[in-house]
Amino acid sequence: MNDIVWHDHKVTRAERARNKNQNPCLLWFTGLSGSGKSTIANALDVALHERGYHTFLLDGDNVRHGLCKDLGFSDSDRVENIRRIGEVSKLFADAGLIVLSAFISPFISDRRLVRKLFPAGEFIEVFMDTPLATCEDRDPKGLYRKARSGEIRHFTGIDSPYEAPPHPEVRLDTSVLSVDECVDRLIDFMVNQHLIA
Ligand code: PPS
Repeated sequence: MNDIVWHDHKVTRAERARNKNQNPCLLWFTGLSGSGKSTIANALDVALHERGYHTFLLDGDNVRHGLCKDLGFSDSDRVENIRRIGEVSKLFADAGLIVLSAFISPFISDRRLVRKLFPAGEFIEVFMDTPLATCEDRDPKGLYRKARSGEIRHFTGIDSPYEAPPHPEVRLDTSVLSVDECVDRLIDFMVNQHLIA
């Protein structure tokens, strides 16, 4: 590392974003499998895109097909997964984009490390606070059933921990809020924080 020198870019991230009339930031969706992370992140992505904002969505299952395909679900692999996603999210924000990242990200310490990569106010933790019972009822991929039967191990919420954020910027429970209501809350938050106009 001692022989590697950091090069500042001539065009800053703020300058890259200014042309789009947006502030680069990261909305980090965290929560159990089936809590609605991907659904809400995708719906917000569409809503922002339709308003002309330049966004990019990073999603757990998709990233694990490529960048993180060497990683499993042990605690240490999840730590490395989130470290990589955090760095990639930062690169996209440096490109001036509004980044939406949807990962279980079960550990407070990992999410804190990602937060530290961003200037104050540009990391927005969105806690998908949907009860485990609802997530398990939905079981969209049949993974809770497999976890309960012991067919898969280390499943978050069953035999692997999830550490809820104590102070998320936004808290959404999709057992009581519709997709549109969740998107409206996120857009309102972003407008209030001057992240979008
Ligand atoms: S993590 O914990 O942040 O590294 O997980 P992530 O990269 O978001 O990947 C979660 C998706 O992987 C599927 N899957 C599992 N999740 C949790 N535990 C175990 N053991 C597991 N095995 C596979 C599951 O489809 C998760 O997707 P979501 O969208 O959360 O349902």
